[in-house]
Amino acid sequence: MNIVITGASKGIGKALALKFVKEGYPVAVCSRNQEHLNELDKELKEINPKVETILQTADVSKKEDLKNFAETILSHWKTVDILINNAGVFIPGAIMDEDEDNLQRTIETNLYSAYRMTKYLLPTMLKKKSGHIFNMCSIASFQAYPNGGSYAISKFGLLGFSKCLREELKPHNIKVTAVMPGATYTDSWKGVDIREDRFIPVEDVVNMIYTATLLSDRSVVEDIIIRPQLGDIA
Ligand SMILES: NC(=O)c1ccc[n+]([C@@H]2O[C@H](COP(=O)([O-])OP(=O)(O)OC[C@H]3O[C@@H](n4cnc5c(N)ncnc54)[C@H](OP(=O)(O)O)[C@@H]3O)[C@@H](O)[C@H]2O)c1
Repeated sequence: MNIVITGASKGIGKALALKFVKEGYPVAVCSRNQEHLNELDKELKEINPKVETILQTADVSKKEDLKNFAETILSHWKTVDILINNAGVFIPGAIMDEDEDNLQRTIETNLYSAYRMTKYLLPTMLKKKSGHIFNMCSIASFQAYPNGGSYAISKFGLLGFSKCLREELKPHNIKVTAVMPGATYTDSWKGVDIREDRFIPVEDVVNMIYTATLLSDRSVVEDIIIRPQLGDIA
């Protein structure tokens, strides 16, 4: 099983890469920072030196970068079995106050990237009539927050994308799962004045996604909603 994860040098994406490599699956990952990718490469090799890994710098908000990443993957692998559209950016702010460019920037990173990467890699899945696409949505995909601004708009869009894709791909035996975590303790939260144990541990999100890949061909987990036990952190 070949796995592609966008935005995987930190946070949920990195934890997913570590998990899949530990389980013996080849992974292809991207992020913008080469140094962080080098560190990840070292960690992946320590966990399982036999597993093939592809690491490439790419800014998912840039069409050319994404295309190059997809081309690299397809030059190494005939098929992609699992695509996890994970890369995302969160710029806090209210619609009425935020810089008007925030929406475009956020949608390019959080929504167009998933749309494009899916279009680039889907043909291999269609050809072999199997595959699984995960879209990293959020509780903010269905619940608005006062400080959600462009982020929530992009994540509502990503959930819409996921639902459309699910309907399209049903007859092609390709699964689509929308992952909607609440506040999960990753780098994006570091420095905030909230106790770590108030957050979802990143491993819980990883385990839900990994488990969803283990089901038979006859079923699909369409939505994963996971929240801190004490409720949302707004
Ligand atoms: N943590 C949460 O509470 C939470 C809750 C719900 C949903 N989510 C979603 O889960 C996903 C991962 O979040 P996270 O908390 O794990 O984030 P994170 O810790 O900030 O890590 C984000 C990762 O994505 C990469 N990335 C960011 N922008 C990118 C770009 N334009 N192109 C390529 N790579 C990019 C980063 O590397 P570089 O900076 O080097 O590019 C990094 O590896 C996001 O889509 C986020 O919206 C997170």
